[in-house]
Amino acid sequence: MKRYIDLIQQTFEFPTREFGVDARNNLQFNNVPLMDVIKKYGTPLRLSYLPKIGEHIEHSKVLFKNAMKKYNYKGSYTYCYCTKSSHFKFIIETALKHNIHLETSSAFDMPLVKTLFDEGKISKETFIICNGHKRPNYLEYISGMLNDGFVNCIPVLDNLGEIDYYINNVTAENVNIGIRIATDEEPTFSFYTSRLGVRYKDVDDLYNDKIKPNPHFKLKMLHFFINSGIKDTAYYWSELTRFMFKYCELKKLCPELDSIDIGGGMPIQTSIVYNFDYQAMVDEIIENVQWICHKNNVPVPNIFTEFGSYTVGESGAILYKIIDQKQQNDRELWYMIDGSFITQLPDSWGIGQKYIMLPINNWDAPYTKVNLGGLTCDSADYYNTESHSEDLYMPMLDDNNPDEEQYIGFFHTGAYQESLGGYGGIQHCLIPAPKHVLIDLDENGNLTTELFAKEQGAESMMKILGYRSERKKAEPLIVQDENINFQKEK
Ligand SMILES: Cc1ncc(COP(=O)(O)O)c(C=O)c1O
Repeated sequence: MKRYIDLIQQTFEFPTREFGVDARNNLQFNNVPLMDVIKKYGTPLRLSYLPKIGEHIEHSKVLFKNAMKKYNYKGSYTYCYCTKSSHFKFIIETALKHNIHLETSSAFDMPLVKTLFDEGKISKETFIICNGHKRPNYLEYISGMLNDGFVNCIPVLDNLGEIDYYINNVTAENVNIGIRIATDEEPTFSFYTSRLGVRYKDVDDLYNDKIKPNPHFKLKMLHFFINSGIKDTAYYWSELTRFMFKYCELKKLCPELDSIDIGGGMPIQTSIVYNFDYQAMVDEIIENVQWICHKNNVPVPNIFTEFGSYTVGESGAILYKIIDQKQQNDRELWYMIDGSFITQLPDSWGIGQKYIMLPINNWDAPYTKVNLGGLTCDSADYYNTESHSEDLYMPMLDDNNPDEEQYIGFFHTGAYQESLGGYGGIQHCLIPAPKHVLIDLDENGNLTTELFAKEQGAESMMKILGYRSERKKAEPLIVQDENINFQKEK
């Protein structure tokens, strides 16, 4: 009977740069022997392989550098990290080692920014691109930063009223402003125009009425973000073109305008078969932007991106043990995992996201078709197809060997899964947050591992749920922040 490794080698070009199998028939991920990590820490286990973050940032910089060189593009490229994809300090600190900037989306990002500044990880020159629909405390933080001399903090106006707050509260001499333009959604979406940003029709008036008359404010940046990501589709190119024509039109009214932010959405690998041509895509973006500017006799803009998934997605993985197998009818075999898809990989459940999924051990065993089941009682807590196939295969368990252990891993899960599924709170069927291990390379290139968080215990849940008498009823679960006005705390 064919072995699991034969199946993979027939289906893909395997090993890949990232995945390989060692002499013990165990999977390696970026040369990390995953069985050793499992032996040390157990499962379920979330891991972050930190070197991937820098690799991707540097790759993106090279892509834009190459493209700009190829077309003799005169603008600059600035890489921002979109904090919402993973807010963890170890992620942002790793990213900041690669000379990058930040994009924020809520008031609650700002204490992170302040901490990074206090610790010398960013400076007042770091670009902080402030996106999102802004509630009063977010507006306060932004104004505080501007007044405190964060010269590259750029509020990106998301609606027509936002500017009024800055007009009334910002005292800094020079304030750079951005406007997010509301793009049209993909034709298959439930509505036409994104609710995020200012519609095309209102942009000129917003500039003429509110920004231009104010000598301290400069409109520096137009921002757009395509929800479905950077893809070589007619829809993407038509939205980019429309956006660039608007940029050129506005540039003629507003000479200070000199930058565009093309958002996030750089794709990541969700299958071992993957042939997205990153360089060709970036080349085409640069070529199009330049072509439209030349056609309109306008200098090309500096380009910002705010890649979230691309920065952090491929650094993450989550490893499970198969704790049981259940044959529910003649054709449906279930492998039960020691975790849950709904709570720990919510994108797989909520939007049908596929990840690279591979067994960690027993690659020399015969394979069988399985459904993977999560521990919650929700029937939707399962995973049974892959992005390249309607079927999902795993090494067959040896019925005669009760001690046999089977582990599996989901890879490239580093973006958004904790922000959507929560981290250490209350989740479906009280499934705990798994332990979290950081993997890095030391200065000599040796792998290091560090336990960032233990598996969540019952005590933290009891407290949240009000079972611990020491917690008074109205006491907030999360200690309220003091006002962290940037100016006050100098
Ligand atoms: C304004 C904005 N920028 C950047 C991003 C990051 O997108 P991605 O993680 O696809 O790169 C998002 C994601 O929702 C976003 O809303």
